[in-house]
Amino acid sequence: SGALPVFTFEPNTAPVAAEERAQRLIGPAFGRVFTDHMAVIRYSEDKGWHDARITARGSVQMDPASSVLHYAQEIFEGLKAYSRPDGGAALFRPDANARRFNASARRMAMPELPEALFLESIRALVRTDAAWIPQDEDGALYLRPFMFASEVFLGVKPSAEYLYMVIASSVGAYFKGGAPSVSLWVTREYTRAAPGGTGAAKCGGNYATSLIAQAEAIRNGCDQVVFLDAVERRYVEELGGMNIFFVFEDGSMLTPPLTGTILPGITRDSILTLARDLGITVREELYSLEQWRADAESGRLTEAFACGTAAVVTPIGSVKSAEGGFTIGGQSAGPLTQRIRSSLVDIQRGKAADPYGWIQ
Ligand code: COI
Repeated sequence: SGALPVFTFEPNTAPVAAEERAQRLIGPAFGRVFTDHMAVIRYSEDKGWHDARITARGSVQMDPASSVLHYAQEIFEGLKAYSRPDGGAALFRPDANARRFNASARRMAMPELPEALFLESIRALVRTDAAWIPQDEDGALYLRPFMFASEVFLGVKPSAEYLYMVIASSVGAYFKGGAPSVSLWVTREYTRAAPGGTGAAKCGGNYATSLIAQAEAIRNGCDQVVFLDAVERRYVEELGGMNIFFVFEDGSMLTPPLTGTILPGITRDSILTLARDLGITVREELYSLEQWRADAESGRLTEAFACGTAAVVTPIGSVKSAEGGFTIGGQSAGPLTQRIRSSLVDIQRGKAADPYGWIQ
């Protein structure tokens, strides 16, 4: 409790030169190009949140007994800053990320970060490193806030100390190669999250468990893995790092409900709002793999797409599993997918009005 710490600013004394930066901003691979600064805030049980800084991006010294390295108490967020037609920069629903960050913190027995501090850490970093926001159509500055347990202790209990940080990465499209759609592999062997587990939290552990299944997808020639529910192994949940939507020939849409085992995507939530305001019927309902296959084969299902901050809205063209595969519609972005994508992107990039107050 008490007053929130104020950020001190320690400028990077050896930033990347403007020419070199311009070079790095050409078609960057996702998550490989980083800016000059980072935000850091410390937490300890006795001091609370303190020592807030914007400082030169650099390595973090860690004791080998730092508890995150052993028991994985770690959460993160992902959001983007976009360059605006007027030359400024905009964040998309950062308050929603702040709230989800704290929901994740509660699930992982970590301290909550006051929303104002979360927001100020993002704003201060974007202001400092605004020159790293790519100007091209698919480009954005991807912000990665995260928090991990830093107490030096091997006992299994919530850490008494944490480090919160924000790093920023200049990104282009998540899926490279210009393919009109992505292919999915349905894993039957692995599940992502069980009821009562951490599926709705954005913790690193969820992504760690997805990697073997994602590797299985790549081995089978697919771009992304899709998980089924852990109980019945029947209903579609989500992809390795994205939510999923289905589009039907009657013009309605469906997405799996937030049952506690899937990540409550902010892109997912925004699409629900946009679609409903476009007059589209959207159901949040369980959808089985069996039904998916039948609907794709009968033509009742006309489109499907993946969505997320990183992936934006990406059409799904084909699905493969041990029992064989099927294709969806024309295997490229269908009309409704395109409509949803442009309604969203136009608000994010300042090309359309923002009646929802999503843009800051
Ligand atoms: C995001 O879309 O921001 C995500 O967190 C997905 C990530 C695994 C790249």
